[in-house]
Amino acid sequence: MPIINRLAEMQDEITAWRRDFHEHPEILYETHRTSAKVAEILNEIGVDEVITGVGRTGVVGIIKGRNGGAGKSIALRADIDALPMTEETGKEYASKIDGAMHACGHDGHTAMLLGAAKYLAETRNFDGTVVLIFQPAEEGGAGAKAMMDDGLFTRWHVDEIYGLHNLPGISIGEFATRPGPLLASTDEFTITIKGLGGHAAYPHHTIDPIVVGSQIVSAIQSIASRNVAPLESVVVSVTVFKAGTAHNIIPDTAQLSGTIRSLTSDVRKQAAERLKQIVEGICAANGASVDFNFMDGYPPTKNHAAQAEFATKIAEEVTGNDTKVNPDLQPSMGGEDFAYYLEEKPGAFLFIGNGDSAGLHHPEYDFNDEAIPYGCSLFIKLVETSLSST
Ligand code: NI
Repeated sequence: MPIINRLAEMQDEITAWRRDFHEHPEILYETHRTSAKVAEILNEIGVDEVITGVGRTGVVGIIKGRNGGAGKSIALRADIDALPMTEETGKEYASKIDGAMHACGHDGHTAMLLGAAKYLAETRNFDGTVVLIFQPAEEGGAGAKAMMDDGLFTRWHVDEIYGLHNLPGISIGEFATRPGPLLASTDEFTITIKGLGGHAAYPHHTIDPIVVGSQIVSAIQSIASRNVAPLESVVVSVTVFKAGTAHNIIPDTAQLSGTIRSLTSDVRKQAAERLKQIVEGICAANGASVDFNFMDGYPPTKNHAAQAEFATKIAEEVTGNDTKVNPDLQPSMGGEDFAYYLEEKPGAFLFIGNGDSAGLHHPEYDFNDEAIPYGCSLFIKLVETSLSST
């Protein structure tokens, strides 16, 4: 059976929620209005429990099945935060908040999960429990980890977890996922090279941190080409190189920052170790000292094979056509804090088509409301099939 008919009746209401979130974007953990609105809707639609303030501004909703909630429990997650950028869509429901915008479609994810919750609370056509997770700070704040650190999986029993993210370039009504690594780790580094400044006319009296930094930028290219195995994936990019003030001064210091991304924990570890060795080696060879600062980002997002296969089957039911579901999407070197959930619980993360829209994080991006019935149906059928008593 394809998308659920009842959702056609709910489309206007879910769209109105989505556009309300869109008009009032909030960043990182500052999702106070959004979280309050989510809790208000969850209470209105009659879920059994609504818990706010989980991992600072996260919200959890509980829906118990017709058997009172005993047995298996499925968690469904939506991210609720926006991005610090200025919207240029010109839509009538465009952001009313200066410097904040729902440019990653988390407004749509939140609305779709609320729509699914409304249907599930109304129909209760399952045995077990649904744990609804509305999570802040996906965009760089590790909100998933904050909710877990606040007892997400100890306060509520969760057997499996699923999440959805829209993807421009995939048609409306289509899905894509894959078993195993889907998205990359997102570690960051900052390297402060301390040389010896001086007059540009007398470089032999200096230790030029720009020359040292340039050697580092070139040398770390060999991590991808000569250290990590050719069939593995890694990104090592210097994205900031700051040094100097004038054409005739060799500066004292230079600062490089960047990102390392990989799809497995082995490559992640190997690339980080090589980076440190190369940086320290080059600085030592040049007589410079260095502060090497490495910051762990999100782990790789790795789907569990059985749950990815199950979710693919459900997506095929929702689309009514297995050609509209890509079960072997090429992994992306983008990152997602859903990774933390998948380190603890079996589950899968899927992409849902957003059609031919501007790209994610672009000022003209907008979530496509036509995706709503597909996303809601996927969440609902994941629950009704997985928590079926027959
Ligand atoms: Ni996103």
